[in-house]
Amino acid sequence: MYGCSQQPIEPVETIERTTLPEKDFLIIAHRGASAYTTGHTLAAYELAVNMGADYIEIDLQMTKDGKLIALHDSVITFHNAKQAVADVTFDDILLHYPRKDLNQNNLNYTLPSFEDLRIVHLEEILLHFGNNVNYYIEIKSPKVYPGIEEELVKQLRKYELLNRDDVIPKVIIQSFNTDSLKEIFAMEPSIPLIKLYTFDKEAQLSKKELQKLSQFASGVGVNSLSVSREFVESMHSEDLLVHPFTVNDEETIRTLMNLGVNGIFTDRPDLALQVRTEKKRLGNQ
Ligand code: G3P
Ligand code: CA
Repeated sequence: MYGCSQQPIEPVETIERTTLPEKDFLIIAHRGASAYTTGHTLAAYELAVNMGADYIEIDLQMTKDGKLIALHDSVITFHNAKQAVADVTFDDILLHYPRKDLNQNNLNYTLPSFEDLRIVHLEEILLHFGNNVNYYIEIKSPKVYPGIEEELVKQLRKYELLNRDDVIPKVIIQSFNTDSLKEIFAMEPSIPLIKLYTFDKEAQLSKKELQKLSQFASGVGVNSLSVSREFVESMHSEDLLVHPFTVNDEETIRTLMNLGVNGIFTDRPDLALQVRTEKKRLGNQ
């Protein structure tokens, strides 16, 4: 007869996600201080840091030669043709991408040393800022870039940005792609992960979705117009933070703060800091 002498069942080891304190209101500089100069340049990141942002936000694409570059779109136009970032090398981009396309934005705030704006790769950013800033990195289009997760974790390890004992985490990773976040979780469960959503109407996730999410994620990033108090409360009930994007006006920042969100993506970190400081001052009176 089967099963006469049963072996004790080994407990399955579950890996705990990292949760973050709810009380902080984080200012995430969307593509840097991108209201004032071209986003995703060292100038935009430098300006964001000087303006007091808690995080610089970096969208990642990967070139043909495996360089992780700070860029929102997966296509880039040069020689009057659209090129997939995945099909060109970083040197191609440096050689052929017309810099005037980057320099045409509002340069009033650009520091003189960064007049020559250009697309940068992640390692340049990490070398430039080291552990003096916090990074909020989005893995864009992961299906187009096999191996992007490994390369990202490799660089974060190389620059000793993980498993540190800082007040707020040095690195947060975000993506619309659940599989990509889970890959990161399997490699480095200590990194807080933010699952991104865009809702057409009011933001809502079912209890089942929330439970799945809370196995690996620390929070959600959602389009700001979809956020309600009920949504924020339902996220908090699973220890999930809420970071709406992308908010650039004072009134909306205040409204979202009052709804209890835990930070915002903004092109105007200076404005967000002003609102946060004012709210803290009033709160302490
Ligand atoms: O990553 C959150 C927010 O930045 C999403 O918007 O600018 O990447 O399209 P974006
Ligand atoms: Ca982004």
